[in-house]
Amino acid sequence: MEKKFKRTLVTSALPYANGPVHIGHLAGVYVPADIYVRYLRLKGEDVLFIGGSDEHGVPVTIRAKKEGCTPQDVVDRYHNIIKESFEGFGISFDVYSRTTSATHREVASDFFKKLYDEGKFVELESEQYYDEGEQQFLTDRNIKGECPRCHAADAYGDQCEKCGATLSPDELINPYNADSGNPLVKRKTTHWYLPLNDYQQWLEQWILNDHKEWRSNVYGQCKSWLDTGLKPRAVTRDLNWGIPVPVEGAEGKVLYVWFDAPIGYISNTKELLPDTWEKWWKDEDTRLLHFIGKDNIVFHCIVFPSMLKAHGDYILPENVPSNEFLNLEDDKISTSRNWAVWLNEYLVDFPGKQDVLRYVLTANAPETKDNNFTWKDFQARNNNELVAVYGNFVNRALVLTKKYFEGKVPACGELTEYDKGIIDEFVNVKSEVEKLLDQFKFREAQKEAMNLARIGNRYLAETEPWKLAKTDMNRVATILNISLQLVANLAIAFEPFLPFSSKKLRGMLAMETFEWSSLGSLTLMEEGHELGEVGLLFDKIEDDAIQAQLDRLERIKAENAAANYKANPIRENIEFDDFTKLDIRVGTVLECAKVPKASKLLQFKIDDGLEGRTIVSGIAAHFNPEELVGKQVCFVANLAPRTIRGIVSEGMILSAEDNEGKLSLLTVSPEAKPGSEVK
Ligand code: MF3
Ligand code: ZN
Repeated sequence: MEKKFKRTLVTSALPYANGPVHIGHLAGVYVPADIYVRYLRLKGEDVLFIGGSDEHGVPVTIRAKKEGCTPQDVVDRYHNIIKESFEGFGISFDVYSRTTSATHREVASDFFKKLYDEGKFVELESEQYYDEGEQQFLTDRNIKGECPRCHAADAYGDQCEKCGATLSPDELINPYNADSGNPLVKRKTTHWYLPLNDYQQWLEQWILNDHKEWRSNVYGQCKSWLDTGLKPRAVTRDLNWGIPVPVEGAEGKVLYVWFDAPIGYISNTKELLPDTWEKWWKDEDTRLLHFIGKDNIVFHCIVFPSMLKAHGDYILPENVPSNEFLNLEDDKISTSRNWAVWLNEYLVDFPGKQDVLRYVLTANAPETKDNNFTWKDFQARNNNELVAVYGNFVNRALVLTKKYFEGKVPACGELTEYDKGIIDEFVNVKSEVEKLLDQFKFREAQKEAMNLARIGNRYLAETEPWKLAKTDMNRVATILNISLQLVANLAIAFEPFLPFSSKKLRGMLAMETFEWSSLGSLTLMEEGHELGEVGLLFDKIEDDAIQAQLDRLERIKAENAAANYKANPIRENIEFDDFTKLDIRVGTVLECAKVPKASKLLQFKIDDGLEGRTIVSGIAAHFNPEELVGKQVCFVANLAPRTIRGIVSEGMILSAEDNEGKLSLLTVSPEAKPGSEVK
């Protein structure tokens, strides 16, 4: 039996305020949460949408170090950028606060204190890596060392980015502090742990039995955690950025970021509703939903519920709609590699096109598997769907009404069988969209709304009212009346998905009020009602705008490749005498040509300051022979002559090769007399 709730509390993962938010965040968490919340509001339900920035944790401190500022500076800056991006995209939070707020500090601190006082934690001593120079303990992410699997020199304490292995700091070979470079020692430290093992049985019952309806990716991840067996988890850290552990003798320790951040949902509710927040968190009639990305599943399904259970006063989540990941142009989105489409930049590059991104991200929502964002697809979905289907239908219906009926909704006459068929196709859209939204199937729900536009577009294309205008104005009136009803339905159906466009469309329809419950109705636009100003709902995105984005990504790829470039290791040492045996000279290229039938070979005639010499070199793939004539090169002059393809080669031309095989000729500056010795 499905339980009836009085209200719904929707939370969306608090993004780390150590960088701006990108399309992956929007697609995975905020657009689906926003669609859902808007939908519930439209239905007149009591709903609260909680957001905020997650401002503690190691990444913030790393960023601060890198930028030479304080952690507070970092989170102040990004909190504002993130908040503005969400506003820009119409993410309709009821509150967007932050975990550095005074309210949160108090709520999180009290939460910890209660569990501490009631003996819900265990205190354990462990050995952790410590930097004696910096006098600090290090967290996994701050430790680097040689990867035990692929032997990359700079794997992190939790993961090797080269081979993808999940690691623990203990596995690293020669660990060092990623910031200072100092080698590390082990030192004893005490922390508080939440004994998740004590909650194992209860969690098995609560998730595996009572919540079989959770998305399979969520359920599956929980099951695998539970099957492995839960262990105590540390809820404190040795760090100087975070909420101090409210226990005597715990100086230098803070709450672990994953302990305090989810409590932020509670704090932010309290900040918004200081008097009534409790009914949202402590009343069984509230339905709590967490919208998150897949890397957050364990924290929201296992750790946070155990915290809430341990506390005892709070309700538990009813569902945790979690998405998989969105890739960008087939590559994993990465903040550190700048491989992302940043929302603040999108808003500048594509002003007024928030809904286009919302549409594309929902159409490609990574609901059940990882999905991919490409700029070409973005353009195609805009041009072929929003413009060519939705926009085109709306525009035709409105323009024809302006043209033939002075912008007033014409009367609906008798319906033909064809009309009735069309109407049958769309009256069910409300129940279809609702059914899908209730199951958090946003992608399909949006498709269903788009289907309405397809029906409308087809209706006009097949009835061709512009051709009937000379002969049968009554028929034209009926067709346009039905079309306008469809357009009005579209404005409502798209309201949760594309709020900016729906608002614009309602302006064109002069549709002041509307009800979600009237979705599917054929009497939304009354006869004689005068339309507003008509304009384009969407416009085409041209190739150059897309190319500019692709160029940007190309540049980032090149920058990353350059930043990651590592030269080959240096070879074994040699003696000075070994070196002086080489007679390297400067020569001027007099002639240079390809050796016939040998694609790799160039034949040089070199002025060596003596009799001149011929050298054959295997570098034809890298240089145009004509461009080398007149250049000065360096060559090994005392290499014993060799015959190559019947030509006697007297030396070897020197060039530099990077480890990707690119060649650059060795030359001299300024020009030198031919035969000059290289020493
Ligand atoms: N900052 C985390 C992330 O981006 C999410 C925190 S969600 C919360 O992965 F519940 F802890 F707030
Ligand atoms: Zn590795």
